[in-house]
Formats: sequence, C-alpha cells, structure tokens
Amino acid sequence: MRKKITLIGAGQIGGTLAHLIALKELGDVVLFDVAAGIAKGKALDIAQSSPVNGFNINLSGTSDYEDTKNSDVIIITAGVPRKPGMTRDDLLGINLKIIKEVADGIKRTSPNAFVICITNPLDVIVMALQKYSGLPKNKIVGMAGILDSSRFIYFLSQELKISVNKIRSFVLGGHGDSMVAMLGSTKIEGKKIGELIKEGKITKERLGEIVDRTKKGGAEIVKYLEKGSAFYAPAASGVEMAESYVNDLKKELPCAAFLSGEYGFNNIYAGVPVIIGKSGVEKIIQLKLTKDEEAAFKDSVKSVQNLYDAAKKIDPDL
Ligand code: APR
Repeated sequence: MRKKITLIGAGQIGGTLAHLIALKELGDVVLFDVAAGIAKGKALDIAQSSPVNGFNINLSGTSDYEDTKNSDVIIITAGVPRKPGMTRDDLLGINLKIIKEVADGIKRTSPNAFVICITNPLDVIVMALQKYSGLPKNKIVGMAGILDSSRFIYFLSQELKISVNKIRSFVLGGHGDSMVAMLGSTKIEGKKIGELIKEGKITKERLGEIVDRTKKGGAEIVKYLEKGSAFYAPAASGVEMAESYVNDLKKELPCAAFLSGEYGFNNIYAGVPVIIGKSGVEKIIQLKLTKDEEAAFKDSVKSVQNLYDAAKKIDPDL
C-alpha cells in the first residue's frame, strides 16, 4: 500500500515538497494549511501535471487534521519565513505558537508518524515540537544539516570545478550562524581537504570564505528573493529524509536529532549525522572531531540551548 505523506504548511517549501514527492511517487500527499485554498489549489495544480509527468499518486488539500489521520510521514513547514535582515532566531515567538498548534493536531491524528520538521529556528522548534507532542524522540527529527552540507558541497564544487558527486562533507551543530563545517571529515575525490590546501588547489583563506558563505547561505537567498526564503534546496533535503524512512534506505544523513549523551550533550536537539531507516532515527553516528571542530560544535549547541531557554521564557509549558 502506498504511504500517506502529510505536509503541514502548503507554502513555498510545502508546495515544492508535494511536487518532488509526486514526481518520485513516494506516497499519497495530503497538503494541510490554515489557508485551505492554498493547500487545495496546489494539490490540484500538481495533480493536473500527472498526465504529463506520468506519476500515479493521490494529492489532496485540507485545513482539517482529520484528513491527515494515520499519516506515515509528516513534514512540517508551517510558520513564517524570514524577511531580509532577519535572523532565523527572530522567528521564535511566532513560530513557537504555530508549532504548538501543529503538535496538538498531529498527536491527535497521527501518533505513529515519522515527523520531519523544517520550520525555523529549526533546532529549537523541533525540540519544542517533540515536547509539545510527546511523540517518540527517534520519530521526530529536524531538517537542516543536509541543506547546509549541500550548500557547502555546491560552493566547494564551484570553486574546485569538481562534480558535487565527488565531494563528501558534513555541516553540523545548530542551523544558524554557529553551524560547523566539518573540514576534517570533508573529502574531495577521496582526498582530505588539507591535502588540497598543500597541493595549492585552494587556500585556507578561500576555504574560510566558502565556510562563511555556507553559514550565510540562507540569508544570501533571502536577500535576493526579498519576499520569503529558500525553498527548492530545503524541500529536496526534506524529501531525502522522507525517502530514507519510507524505503528503509538507512542513509547516513546530517539531521537535527535528540542527543542523549552523544557528542557530550544531553536533552537537546542538534545537527549530527544519523541513520534514517524504517524505525526512524536508528542511530546517531559519532564522528571523530578535531579539537577545533569539537570546540566549535560545543559553542553551536550552546547557542541552541540559549535559544531554547529563551523559548521557555516565552512558553513555560516547555
Ligand atoms: N498551521 C498550518 N499551516 C500554517 C499555520 C498553522 N498554524 N500557520 C501558518 N501556516 C502556513 C501558512 O499559511 C503558509 O502557507 O505555513 C505556510 C508557510 O509557507 P511560506 O510562508 O511560503 O514559508 P516557507 O518558505 O514554506 O517556509 C516555512 O520553513 O525554512 C523554514 O524559515 C522557514 O519557518 C519557515 C518555514
């Protein structure tokens, strides 16, 4: 039987998610939005492309949680995106309220779903979602690391004129300015990045600029678009996670996952490599970090903890 995939939020990312899922025939799609017309309109528009693209799944739009009942996968993008000049953290107050409502809806109707959260500020929102809903921690995960790593890999490929397929890297920690590009685990055609520096293929300074551009990758797009934030790459990243779960691919993917002692942290969500398979987050991969990476990762998770403390002040239920 086809899986039921519900997308909570039918905005820019939600619509792109629906389109990608349809093209891949990953499951039947229910688009949910407080603005029912947007959900229904996008579902119908994508469904009307099925004769052209040759996919065979059902798509529907709704603003009633009953229609999302017993979903296998839920991807959440409900919330407000950034405007130019805003940080992701500026969205905290408003998106926290929205996520509380969403948590209540999915807990009532799809308590067994694998839930992927994309709403920002990501790490704190996914943590709040888990707390509000009470759903198992291995079934609630945040999308950020795939996107940040993908941006980094793309920039490196442009710089080095090497296919993205030949570059492997992880960007971990919080999904904000403190995110950490794991240079020690970055491999280009099997070579460590340090070797490329030695060979004169890239300078340390240039690499630093690329890391910096990655950290500000989302803001660069917000500035261009003027209205709204990135959606193609975020949606592609969310679909990769859903696919690994639905097809039990057990891919190793950088995601915001709940830490219970891993990397020295407890009771907090942060970006780490995980294995996603049919049981959800099946394992957290413990990468060997260099001293610098470890220090930067700690700082990054601390900034997530600080923002979570701010969230607790906004809502004592957390
Ligand atoms: N329940 C369901 N949907 C909601 C709710 C709610 N309580 N509140 C808002 N929405 C819907 C809006 O109606 C809108 O259609 O969420 C959708 C968000 O879509 P966009 O504004 O287009 O935002 P998008 O670019 O998709 O980003 C969504 O993901 O990456 C993050 O920072 C980004 O937090 C933002 C989120």
